[in-house]
Amino acid sequence: MCGIVGYVGPGPAAAIIMSGLKRLEYRGYDSAGVAVVTSDDAGSRIALAKRAGKIGNLAGALDAEPMPVDGVGVGHTRWATHGVPNDLNAHPHLSFDGRVAVVHNGIIENHAALRAELGAAGIATVSDTDTEVVAHLLAQELEAGRRLPDAMRAVCNRLDGAFTLVAVDRDDPATVVGARRNSPLVVGIGDGESYLASDVAAFIDHTREAIELGQDQVVEIRAGEVRVTGFDGRPAQTRPYHVDWDTSAAQKDGYDWFMRKEIYEQPKAVADTLLGRYDTDGSLRLDELRISESELRRVNKIIIVACGTAFYSGLVAKYAIEHWTRIACEVELAHEFRYRDPIVDANTLVVCISQSGETADSLMAIRHASEQGARVLAICNTNGSTIPRESDAVIYTHAGPEIGVASTKGFTTQLVACYLLGLYLAQVRGTLFGDEIARLMDELEQMPQTIQGVLDDAEPVLKLAADFAEQPSVLFLGRHVGYPVALEGALKLKELAYIHAEGFAAGELKHGPIALIDQGLPVFVVVPPLGRDMLHDKVVSNIAEIRARGALTVVLAEEDDEAVGPLADVWIRLPKVSTLLQPLAATVPLQLFACELATRKGHDVDQPRNLAKSVTVE
Ligand code: G6P
Repeated sequence: MCGIVGYVGPGPAAAIIMSGLKRLEYRGYDSAGVAVVTSDDAGSRIALAKRAGKIGNLAGALDAEPMPVDGVGVGHTRWATHGVPNDLNAHPHLSFDGRVAVVHNGIIENHAALRAELGAAGIATVSDTDTEVVAHLLAQELEAGRRLPDAMRAVCNRLDGAFTLVAVDRDDPATVVGARRNSPLVVGIGDGESYLASDVAAFIDHTREAIELGQDQVVEIRAGEVRVTGFDGRPAQTRPYHVDWDTSAAQKDGYDWFMRKEIYEQPKAVADTLLGRYDTDGSLRLDELRISESELRRVNKIIIVACGTAFYSGLVAKYAIEHWTRIACEVELAHEFRYRDPIVDANTLVVCISQSGETADSLMAIRHASEQGARVLAICNTNGSTIPRESDAVIYTHAGPEIGVASTKGFTTQLVACYLLGLYLAQVRGTLFGDEIARLMDELEQMPQTIQGVLDDAEPVLKLAADFAEQPSVLFLGRHVGYPVALEGALKLKELAYIHAEGFAAGELKHGPIALIDQGLPVFVVVPPLGRDMLHDKVVSNIAEIRARGALTVVLAEEDDEAVGPLADVWIRLPKVSTLLQPLAATVPLQLFACELATRKGHDVDQPRNLAKSVTVE
């Protein structure tokens, strides 16, 4: 949430920052701004430009009135928390004396008290943001004779809440200073140049060498030089790493949207997540899992915490993990978990699923779990992010960068990682035989082709989206693992098409939601594979019940499931897969449907209104 870029080096700062912001636009697109410190014979000054709306508006302003080419600078793309998205509230914010420009991601919770204190000292704020106080506080520290890094440490020690801050000082035109607490910031090390950014995507065009910053750290970058200290001023340990994807992964490759590209990347993403996990001797290996087998044998409860789409992958995981391991598994929205005093102890394994690894709600949940003595395992797609760093163990999904705000390949690879975890636990605890694990692994390894088949047969779904473009409301039903698929189908439609969409457990229908069924209302129904006959037949009965009440039924069922034929107004044929793995195939048409419907409605699919991809505020 909010994207930040800082640059020091010989290149054209404003242009480099703008291209970095463009890559971070998925983090927020309410407004954008750039500040560059530049020097000439007349001295140093800060050139500032900011505009409400998407980065294109700022780019237009910079075309009309270009920034100085040389200098160091900071930039920001905003997801508004405090203050409406207008030019004034856009970042960077300047200090009262014009000496400091600062950008911020997060929320300064004690901003009102600090604003009052500044007011008493005769310094008035001009914007409605919580950020602006930081600019004035930094300027006060500089006025007292401190340098910007010392000023940043002093100010950070006075702030409550979550923040990444990056600032420049007009009187030190060679330095950019950043700080982080509970919000992401990474350093990029180029050839004679350095970057600060919310995400490596911002500098991937220039360098793939990065440094993770820890909690409560301040970083100073100068050309080719990086210095990191804690908020207490002591030198800090950092972890350099190499980014394992390149700039080509962050291009649309001829697709209209990143989301559509990412949907079509799922066969490869699933294959990459499976790569190297299963030995030829028939045993599963999870290399990044830094929890011993004896500890895993002691686990008597699993709690999965996550938000949004990742939460739905956790709901699927519960069915698989309980079935394969016989360990009780709860799934909880991360923001609810922490505040209900959950029962967690040293024998609890808390699994946090997060594509970005930065979701504030999920981060706070794992901190709470660790404090209670639980072991924490992250399922994450982003190397160097905070959640895996603060977990005892991690399974990385190797999906490559996900840029579309609505998660797609993030979701399917999270499912794969959850299945791997379930099977690994079953192997360690002996709850499945080796041949049973082998059969499931075989099927998982077939999944890239299976998903490719679904993508190749997508034409009917795309046509359906065109036909439904004017529908005001759509329902989704599913049972067992089809229930989270229904929830995910509805979420995709809400976030992209902005229409009323709800997912229900099919069995719950008769307890209330059936009252919503009206003549012509489209209802998608996810039908379990044949072979789980009771489950299958009950869902088929549910289709009959809604059809009798006028629903227009869109049935996702196996290709040879003749029982659904007479009940389906539209039949989306799914390949044959086993029940627990069906979400990997059944979700894909729903992703395509939402993407296409939103496209038909003329919406910005990659940047849906009010949303951001990496939600770094609670
Ligand atoms: C936001 C995004 C969702 C995502 C959720 C969790 O709400 O819009 O697409 O599923 O955050 O994100 P995470 O990075 O933790 O998986």
